[in-house]
Amino acid sequence: MKSINPKEHPVPFVHRLLLSGVAPRPIALVSTVDGEGRHNLSPFSFYNAFGANPPVIVVSPAYRGKDGTPKHTFENIRDTGEFAVSAVSHAMVEQVSLASGDFARGVDEFVKAGFTRLPSSLIAPSGVAESPFVMECRLLHHYDTGGLPGSGNLMIAEVVMFHVRESAFEGDRIDPRRLDLVARMGLNWYLRANGDALFELPKPPHHGIGIDALPTHIRESALLTGSDLAKLAAALELPDSGEILHRWLEDMQAIVPDETAADMFEVELRMARAHRALIALMGDWKRGSLDAAEICRRLQRCTQTALASGEMTLAWECALMSHPDTVASLSAAG
Ligand SMILES: Cc1cc2nc3c(=O)[nH]c(=O)nc-3n(C[C@H](O)[C@H](O)[C@H](O)COP(=O)(O)O)c2cc1C
Repeated sequence: MKSINPKEHPVPFVHRLLLSGVAPRPIALVSTVDGEGRHNLSPFSFYNAFGANPPVIVVSPAYRGKDGTPKHTFENIRDTGEFAVSAVSHAMVEQVSLASGDFARGVDEFVKAGFTRLPSSLIAPSGVAESPFVMECRLLHHYDTGGLPGSGNLMIAEVVMFHVRESAFEGDRIDPRRLDLVARMGLNWYLRANGDALFELPKPPHHGIGIDALPTHIRESALLTGSDLAKLAAALELPDSGEILHRWLEDMQAIVPDETAADMFEVELRMARAHRALIALMGDWKRGSLDAAEICRRLQRCTQTALASGEMTLAWECALMSHPDTVASLSAAG
């Protein structure tokens, strides 16, 4: 690892580091009104939500890196205590980038970027009608992280009203695919939260045994990844390997090695059929064409394939049997 002490580097470098490593970041398209009633609209990705009771968000308009002057968004929030945050969908992102330009004070970026005002119900600044998710916010606290060029201003605010497009809902829940939001990454990169970028990972219903409780030959496997181990370690208890061994001895005896199917193991794994791959492995095993180490490796590859398709029982069985001593007992019996 390259260790980097921020105190030994210029601020723009440290800024780029944060932008790259603290990612993907949600983007708040922040609308404000100044003391003279003029509208302002700018994006901020140093932004997130912090607690739901009350609903609190923080947005950070920094002091400008080039001269340390405050941004209009910061001044307007500080002076009025109000702002609206509109989430940014993929369809909006080009206009959002346009709105981020360094326009003079008093220039209305709603007009510059071609966005439509969505009147708020409790605050003066409007939201953005093109956004599927808008929040009306009132300032709770302001924390200045340094007052220097590139320092942040944490504008800690309570959300006093949400506006969510009806088409975003699936029943009473918002489906992320219906929002199609974008996030900010490092350099000029953005992320579209849709398609293959989205995946579901159900929260475990209980706490599992943990990776530390896995048998050593599984935990220290050169093949199984941290994700593989985490899936196994989500089990409530260790399966009974004696019972599995007993059943596998019977299965092994029933296998008739098929001389014509020497490549069957690889083919079945490619087809993501862990159980059929295991039967093919047992055939090769009985033919005596594999040493114990290779049998263990193949069993763990079956584990990975079974894990990928959610066949937890099979995954566990292959993992537990992938010990050289167990393989030796099975070989002797088969
Ligand atoms: C996607 C995106 C995210 C941004 N995030 C931030 C941020 O978190 N903090 C910040 O100070 N500037 C950020 N900027 C730059 C501001 O939008 C830019 O400085 C803008 O001109 C500020 O406008 P204002 O002076 O009207 O407030 C971001 C720009 C883009 C395009």
